[in-house]
Amino acid sequence: MGVVERIMFFMAVAVLCVASSTAEVYKVGDDKGWTTLSPIPDYKKWSSTKAFKVGDSIVFEYNPQMHNVVQVNYTDYKKCNTAAAIRTLTSGNDTIPIKSKGHYFYICGIPGHCAMGQKVDIRVVTHVTQTPPTAQAPASPSVPTPSSGPSPSADSAPAPSPKKSSAGTISKGLIGKFGFVVLAVVAAVAF
Ligand SMILES: *[C@@H]1O[C@H](CO)[C@@H](O)[C@H](O)[C@H]1NC(C)=O
Ligand SMILES: *[C@@H]1O[C@H](CO)[C@@H](O)[C@H](O)[C@H]1NC(C)=O
Repeated sequence: MGVVERIMFFMAVAVLCVASSTAEVYKVGDDKGWTTLSPIPDYKKWSSTKAFKVGDSIVFEYNPQMHNVVQVNYTDYKKCNTAAAIRTLTSGNDTIPIKSKGHYFYICGIPGHCAMGQKVDIRVVTHVTQTPPTAQAPASPSVPTPSSGPSPSADSAPAPSPKKSSAGTISKGLIGKFGFVVLAVVAAVAF
């Protein structure tokens, strides 16, 4: 019973770690938000340092009386032209979920602001260093399988050492670089 509870706890920790490593929320401009207040954030630099991926969100925070968010294509991003807007957001706290790969361009539609630098491009590419989202999605449904699996192995193998190594394998496969941290937590709880 205690072993099963420990395994359940490990699964909960693993799921939490996977969930927190899959969906990032990026606030455009970080603390400064979406603004023309001098010094205007370097939005190009800001976005170039982020590894956007499908499932993440970007948030534009701004004073809606001073700014807005207009999605445009590459040409209009370059020209600061909002005449052919793809979409316009005006709430002042706009969350945009990233639903597919691509290159997305957002500018402020208030005259002059884009030219001052209030424009950002979000490039969403296939993630190289992490498991692709398509492969991560089955990870959650597969979690219940191991939790029903340990019951037979708990009867056949009472020794804790095989359990520890199998848990280590699962955690490394699931969460990569976070595996070590999770292992430490699990070890601290279990032993
Ligand atoms: C962007 O939209 C404008 C206006 O519809 C069009 O003239 C231009 O060719 C488009 N550029 C791209 C890269 O699609
Ligand atoms: C913007 O929305 C997010 C989530 O809906 C919320 O956590 C945040 O406090 C909001 N920010 C402002 C300035 O209202």
